[in-house]
Formats: sequence, structure tokens, C-alpha cells
Amino acid sequence: MSEPHRTAELEAILKDPGFCRHSTGHTAVVDWDADTGWSDPRVEPWRDLAMDPATLGLHYGQAVFEGLKAFRAMDGSVHLFRPEDHGRRLARSAARLAMAEMPAELFARACAALVAADERWVPDGYGQSLYLRPLLIATEPDLGLRPSKRYRCVILAYPADPCFGAGFRPLSVTTSTETVRAVRGGTGEAKCAGNYAVSLLTRSEAQASGYDEVLWLDGLGRRRIEELSTMNVFLVWRDGTEPRVTTPPCDGTIVRGLTRDSLLTLATDRGIAVAEEHTTIDAVRAGLRSGRLAEVFACGTAGVVVPVGRLGIGGEDMTVDDGGEGPMTALLRNSLLDVQHGRTPDAHGWLQTI
Ligand code: COI
Repeated sequence: MSEPHRTAELEAILKDPGFCRHSTGHTAVVDWDADTGWSDPRVEPWRDLAMDPATLGLHYGQAVFEGLKAFRAMDGSVHLFRPEDHGRRLARSAARLAMAEMPAELFARACAALVAADERWVPDGYGQSLYLRPLLIATEPDLGLRPSKRYRCVILAYPADPCFGAGFRPLSVTTSTETVRAVRGGTGEAKCAGNYAVSLLTRSEAQASGYDEVLWLDGLGRRRIEELSTMNVFLVWRDGTEPRVTTPPCDGTIVRGLTRDSLLTLATDRGIAVAEEHTTIDAVRAGLRSGRLAEVFACGTAGVVVPVGRLGIGGEDMTVDDGGEGPMTALLRNSLLDVQHGRTPDAHGWLQTI
């Protein structure tokens, strides 16, 4: 059942929303001030952020963000997926950059207020969603290096198709032994603006060489695989009778993906063997050569679950199985989307009804 109060123009947008092409025209805003604490959320018309050019967040990078989604179920109802978990992750990112930590309940309330105001913008299609992009940024003007005494959280909303980086085809990824995304003790786990900026040069070089993305290696020995610039990575091993699904552990250098966490949980629910463990790039290469490594996929809120079909390792181009999407990748993506769209029971209480 779709939302009845839509204009023909909005219906046309929702048929082919792409990714973040059309904002709903509203934002939810929550402010923090060292003297007064957090404000109540307010839904406002979309407008430019007016900032003094000496604002701390612009110069010293106190800026963190989130990405979460609202989905429409078959009965027309609308649900946010794991909003408080996203709020907790935003607070954790903020803490790493000495920023104010918004309570998860307040974060979820602000997201819900925006989705409620823009409910007709939540698309109906399977895999489609209303993508929310909360940004928390230091707003106090000062050029002295110190934590800001004022922050603004502004939440944007866009109808979205799943954002598969390369369209609906498997990704090709390559590795770099020159540059790294994160090091132990750094900010790799935080969803801070700088972590994305730092990926751009190598990612652009990879794209100029015909790849979609970079599979980052660890900052110390460039041996272990970590994640892509915008998504976590999973490996599916078929070296026994039952498949085994592995992903690098969250030990400070990768983003604690909530899609990652949801897939680990859903796989476990289905009796699939999962492990959070380090894997070297040499083991990946050997696994692809022997056929033991049967599937590689990337996952994230925006991109959902997308197969990796080709891997460039040390100048060698390797195809993952037949280069297409494997059965485990499809099973886990559909298991997740089925929960998000209310087609299967929400056994873990991940949906917050609007
Ligand atoms: C998300 O998946 O929501 C992200 O934050 C990644 C983004 C850079 C597209």
C-alpha cells in the first residue's frame, strides 16, 4: 500500500529516486550549547547553514555524521531501522573528537520527527528507503585549537534506491600498499568527515585505473584487509561442507557498521557459521586461487549488500568465483531487507514505528 497524499511530481521522483538526488526540503535540527545543553528537536525548512568563516568545525574538523534509513512496510506503515543504535554510534564518533555526545533517545526522536513530517517521501519499493543523513558539527567561531562550546546536529532526508556504488553490478576493488585509511589509535572507527576525505586521493586513482573502490589494508604492515572507503567487507569461505562467513573485527580502525552487525546477527539466526577475524591479503589471494574463497561482498547503510566481483591485488587482477553475485550474498541481503520492510518478524527489535 502506498502513501495516498502525494503529488504527481513526488510520485515521479519516488519511481527513480537515485541516491540523494532530491531532498525532502526539510531538516531536523538539534543544538547543543555548553551552558544550556541540548535543545529539543525542531523540523525546519531546508536552508543554508550560516557560519562564521572562523567556525571551529570548518577549520579543525570537528564534524561527524551518520547514515540511517526509514522503510515502508507492505501495510503502508513506516519504520526507522535501529535509530538508537545509530545515535549511540554518533555519540561514540563525537566522543573521539571531543564533541558533545547527543543522547541516543534524543537522536532517535529527532530522526522520527523528520520522518513523520516527510512520511509521504518514504518510497514503497523493496530496497528503497528514506535515507537520513545526520551531521554534527562544531559551530562556535574561534581559531584557537580547542573543543567547541557549541554544536549543531542537522538531519537531512532523501528518498533513495539502494546506493550500489557501481549501479546494480558487482564492484571491482583494488588495494594500495602506499596509502592507508586508518591506524590503531587513530580515528578510523569514527564516522568523521576526515576519514572520508583521506580515502579520496587513492580512490580516485583506483577509479582512473578502472576500479570502483579501494579495499584498505592495515596501517602497520599493509597485510590485513580492513574495509572499503564507505563499506565494511565480508568473505564467504567454502572449504568444508558448510559455508563460513568472516569479516574483520572492530578493533578501532574500521567503522562499526550497523549493516555489518545486522548481517552477523541474521546469519547466526540462520545457523550460518560466522567469525569476526583478521584475514591477510595473501590469504585472500590464496583463497581466490584455490576457490576456497567463494564470495566477497561489501555492506553499509547506503549500499546495503553489494558483491565484489573483481579484486586487484599487487598488480594481479582476480575474479571472485564467476564475477557475479553468490548465493550467500543474496541470501543475507534479502534477509536484511525482509526485516527492514516488515516482511519477516523483527526478532531483535530493530524497527521503530513512526
Ligand atoms: C552510509 O552507508 O550511510 C555511509 O555513511 C557511507 C556514505 C559515505 C555513503
